[in-house]
Amino acid sequence: MVLNQLGIGIAITGSGSATPEVTLDNRQLSQMVETSDEWITTRTGIRERHLSDTEGSLKAIATKAAERALAMAGIAPKDLDLIVLATSTPDDLFGSASQIQASLGASQAVAFDLTAACSGFVFGLVTASQFIRTGVYQNVLLIGADVLSRWVDWSDRSTCVLFGDGAGAVILQAQEQDNLLGFELRSDGNQNSCLQLEYKAQKQEIVKGVVVGQGTYRPIAMNGKEVYRFAVQKVPEVIEKALFRSNITAEEVDWLLLHQANQRILDAVAQRLSISGEKVLSNLAHYGNTSAASIPLALDEAVREGKIQPGEVIAAAGFGAGLTWGSAIFRWGK
Ligand code: UT7
Repeated sequence: MVLNQLGIGIAITGSGSATPEVTLDNRQLSQMVETSDEWITTRTGIRERHLSDTEGSLKAIATKAAERALAMAGIAPKDLDLIVLATSTPDDLFGSASQIQASLGASQAVAFDLTAACSGFVFGLVTASQFIRTGVYQNVLLIGADVLSRWVDWSDRSTCVLFGDGAGAVILQAQEQDNLLGFELRSDGNQNSCLQLEYKAQKQEIVKGVVVGQGTYRPIAMNGKEVYRFAVQKVPEVIEKALFRSNITAEEVDWLLLHQANQRILDAVAQRLSISGEKVLSNLAHYGNTSAASIPLALDEAVREGKIQPGEVIAAAGFGAGLTWGSAIFRWGK
């Protein structure tokens, strides 16, 4: 695959993240549903998650994450040409990207939402990169943000222990050297029913003979076992494909950065790829599964802790509802 036909490459020059202040730990969850800290910790690795209250909005955490990413990259909101917001939980179903554009004061940027559930950040990274590679835009803000707590069934122990709220962001900039080394994206709608946040309509006759479907979205429903099986099989495959396209071997990967769904999935994928545990970035103990936010949240923490150094190779992969999955291989920094 020729990635860089015009000689324009991509640099990821800044990251930022934000989570709501309120936390819910496993002990508190065990007061709500029949579960235990021991079950949640051993089956998932999750200990606590951050949750937005009714005052909190997706816009608020996404804007904060974006401001931090802009500051790290050293560019002003007015320098942005494009804002892509990967989310499944917008404040406004028509899209929340424009609201974030306004709150940042990014007056020159066009902004839109992109929905690919927990794969949203990787899909967004590839989408945003196309605008840079074609020479159209130079400075792009990519945000992955979700407030899944709005759509969790808090009486369903098989799902409510998993999810949390958060936002992460990166700045992508045009440069000569291409630091997005390769990618591979996949979808399989035949498995859509494994993980859904489905609209349910009720018939409403608005005038004789004309019926419309008015309703709302049902809480998240998941076949955990099926999604687990899908993840441990498909994620190593898609990373291998992206590594192949990047002309990079698994040994050359400095950091494995997976969607933070379950520590057992992280461990199984690393093992399949023969990537050692020290190279696996994991912060799900403190945030749970934050959907489109999980990859940029873990990336930002690792960058700020000084773990990830400029030039290091990161193999990122997202997976989730759709079903969707995908991997992007990139070098951090310029
Ligand atoms: O971002 C989207 C991607 N989503 C995912 O990656 C989720 C993938 N799936 C998973 O991570 C795992 O399947 C889960 C963590 C959701 C579940 O773990 P599991 O090891 O597959 O458990 P299970 O569903 O097979 O359930 C085992 C038992 C069941 O009881 P029985 O039938 O053996 O008596 C469940 O009813 O554990 C029970 N169980 C619980 N027990 C205590 C299910 N949830 C809980 C709970 N606390 N919260």
